[in-house]
This record gives sequence, structure tokens and C-alpha cells, in this order.
Amino acid sequence: MLVVPVRKADSSAAVPVAAVPAEIGAEVASFLSESGQLAKPGQAESWKRPLRTPTKIVFAGVGSGDETGWRLAGAAISRQAAKDATIAIVVPEDLAPEALRGLAEGLWLAEYKYRLRENKPEEVRLLASAEVLCADTPERQSVLKTASAVASLTNFARDLTNTPSLIKTPEWFTEQVVSRAEAMPGVSATVRDPKQLADDGFGGILAVGGGSAHSPRLVELSWNPPNATEHIVFAGKGITYDTGGVDIKPPDAMLLMRKDMSGAAAVCAIVLAAAQLNLPFRVTALAPLAENMVSGSSWRSGDVVRHYGGLTSEIHNTDAEGRVVLADVLAYAFANLEPDVLIDISTLTGAGRVSLGPKIASMFTASDELAATLSDAAREAGESVWRMPLADEYAKDVIADLGDFNNAAGNPGAITAALYLREFVGPARDKWAHFDLSAPAWSETDDGELVRGATGWGVRTMVRWLLARAG
Ligand code: BES
Ligand code: MN
Ligand code: ZN
Repeated sequence: MLVVPVRKADSSAAVPVAAVPAEIGAEVASFLSESGQLAKPGQAESWKRPLRTPTKIVFAGVGSGDETGWRLAGAAISRQAAKDATIAIVVPEDLAPEALRGLAEGLWLAEYKYRLRENKPEEVRLLASAEVLCADTPERQSVLKTASAVASLTNFARDLTNTPSLIKTPEWFTEQVVSRAEAMPGVSATVRDPKQLADDGFGGILAVGGGSAHSPRLVELSWNPPNATEHIVFAGKGITYDTGGVDIKPPDAMLLMRKDMSGAAAVCAIVLAAAQLNLPFRVTALAPLAENMVSGSSWRSGDVVRHYGGLTSEIHNTDAEGRVVLADVLAYAFANLEPDVLIDISTLTGAGRVSLGPKIASMFTASDELAATLSDAAREAGESVWRMPLADEYAKDVIADLGDFNNAAGNPGAITAALYLREFVGPARDKWAHFDLSAPAWSETDDGELVRGATGWGVRTMVRWLLARAG
């Protein structure tokens, strides 16, 4: 029998559940015959059985029984059982590994809740463990290990993103990542402070962070296994708060801008997951962290900023700050890290939502191979992407007058942002992919495995892509 610990094991609440008594079979069959719709994935109903054991039966639809169906069922079960100490999950005897992976990820992702304070006793939800009633095999254990790494590191990224910016300074973010890295053998973390950023020429990060009392940082986090076959580099936008700068945002647009470091959180979580799963690649995350504020030391439009490596940006809008910090680290990656693939994950433009709505990330890459493998990984992981064009029709729009490139070339906004970034990835354009996740980084509602708030978008897709690449 497999036990899936749902909360961390202070599991005094966990009571072992015996196998389901045979006599309730008839009860279940009669219920199922009356609820014709239950096969819909993620649809769930609870049936109370006062004074009897078990005291409640939850029915959850798995649809066609693919991984997505099981993931949605896991999420629904997690919500229906949130007040129960422990549950037993009845599954087909021959439950496929993908189905178990979906079930476990759904359970673990949907039970996430961000808490700012220590739990008040009455806030603690009970569900401590879920027993899956099927044989415990090495294959199933290995699937659970993967699902656990993916879910717990998605939840780490969610925690970082949900944290208010009053707490979440660039320095605080680096401390969270460094303390995780220290606990993980084979992972190293390097943090550059403003002096080192200046010495090394990271003018974009310094310009964007110049208006804040909380100075910028650059985290470089690396999983470096012996005999690594490839080096995969991830870069993630880490704006810990985006006021827009002197080109200030209206209040409604600013309200949620603590999420503007979702990409940085995701890329750090991806490296930690690669380490936890002992992947055979070197995997590096670059997280430029800065707070885009308004003050006497803020940057301004009309400034010309010099990036790592020497290219310059002419600033047309201080609210287009994400690409300016990313330009530094993309140039740094190609100059120093010899990436086989370079992927950035960034809450870059409001325009992404205009074209694809709240749930789909935009993907830009010149490589058909990367586009195909990344789309497959996203679909299997349950995160949606759509490929957008790096349209040469607009390439000249990002050329500037005083500096090399214009940081705010205008519509089509997600495309011109991607074209601007492309200028900094050097000769190896075909090894680069850019994800704009402004909208899907956040969920307005509890929805399947998503919980209202940060989604940790990208962790699931990229870990799956890395696993597939490792073969
Ligand atoms: N952080 C925003 C993008 C964003 C918008 C993320 C909504 C999440 C939700 C980014 O820095 C920004 O302000 N982009 C501007 C660029 C424009 C000034 C060229 C935008 O998209 O409006
Ligand atoms: Mn902005
Ligand atoms: Zn931003």
C-alpha cells in the first residue's frame, strides 16, 4: 500500500485506514449508477455516512483516466478531504505510473496554502496522509519521488511569489535561495551585491534597482553533477516590486506587482528540483533581482544604460524594466556559461494577456525542436503555452537612436519585448527560448491543481522537459 504524506510529517493526525470494507461496494455501486456525470475529470462529490466507517466517501471523476484526469481528480480529492485526518484512495489495481503521478501532483498542489503567520491552531487543516490502495512497486516509488520534487518546489516558488514585497527585498530573496542551496549537496549559489554588479558591468540591473532603498542582487544558482552532458541555463525576471518607476503604473495595475519575480522564483526552483532528482545535466539559474521604485535616485526615460558585455539600451519607458535586467544576464550567460540551451521565464508584458488570456503563456523561440519539446512538456505537465512569432517585420522597431536598442518599442508588445531580448543572446539565437508568463503566473481562483494566488508557473513544465531530455 502506498502512503502519500500530504502535509509534512508531524503526522500525529495520521490514522492508518484499513482497506475498504467489501460491504460498501454495493452502496458505492448504487451511488455511481445515479450520478451519470461523475466521469468528468475533477468533478467530485462527498457522501456523508454518519456513525459508520468510513464516515465519508468522496467520488472523484478521472475522465478518460489519463494523467490530466488523475491530476484533476487528485486536486478535487484534496479539497473534499481537507478537513479529514486521513484518507484511503481506491484506484484500479493496474494503476499506470502516469496516473499515479497525476494523482499525487494534484493532491500536493491543490492542498497548498500561503500563510504569512504561524498557523493558528484552528487554521490547521487536518489531512495528513492519503493511502493509495495499490501495490507498492519500485516504479511507483520512483514516480512519487518525481511528483514530490515537482510539487514541493512548485510550492517553494509559490511561497516566494506570494510573499509581500515589504518582506521580499532582493536581499531577502537571495537568503531564501541560498539557505535552500546550502541544504542541497551539489548545488552552489553565488550572489552579486551592487559593488560586484558594478565591477562586472551589470548596468541594466543597477539602473532598474537604483531607485530603491533595497539594493539589487544577482543570484547564480547551479546544479553541477559529475560527468554532466549538457549545460542548461535558465534566466528569470526578478522584480520584487514593479511600480513602473517614474513612468508610474495606475493603482489597479500596480496592486499585484509583488508577483513580478515569478520567473526568478521558478528558475531557482527548477535548479533545486534538478538536484533533488539527480538530473545528468549542469543546470544553472540566473535571477536578477531589483525593485523598480520611484525616488530621487530612480532611473528615467531618456537614459542610456550600458549592459553586461557593452551593448546599450535607450530607455523609452521605465515600466519596461524586466527586459533591461534580463538583457544583462542573457549577455552574461552567452559570454560565460556556454549554454546548450538558454531559457528565460519572465512576467514581461501585459500584452501577453491581451493575445492569449489569463491562462496561457507565450513562447518565443527560433528553434522548431525546442518549440516542439517544450510544448509537449507543458501539455503533459498541465501548463499551457502557445508559440508566438519572433517576427522580423518588427525587428527594426527595437533599434534606438542614442543607444543600441529601445526598451519600449510598443505594439505588438509581447513580440517587440521578445525581439529586444533576442538582441542580447548573441550568435546562438537558435538555442534560446523566451516565455512570457505575466498572466498565468497568477490564478484568480482555486482552479484544478491551482490555488488562488501564485501558480509557480514553469517549474512543472521545465522539470518535465529536463526529465524527457535526460531520457
Ligand atoms: N511587470 C510588467 C508586466 C506585467 C503586467 C506582469 C501585468 C504581470 C501582469 C512589466 O514590467 C511592464 O510593466 N510591462 C509594460 C511594458 C510597456 C511599458 C512597454 C507593459 O506590458 O505594459
Ligand atoms: Mn514594468
Ligand atoms: Zn515588470
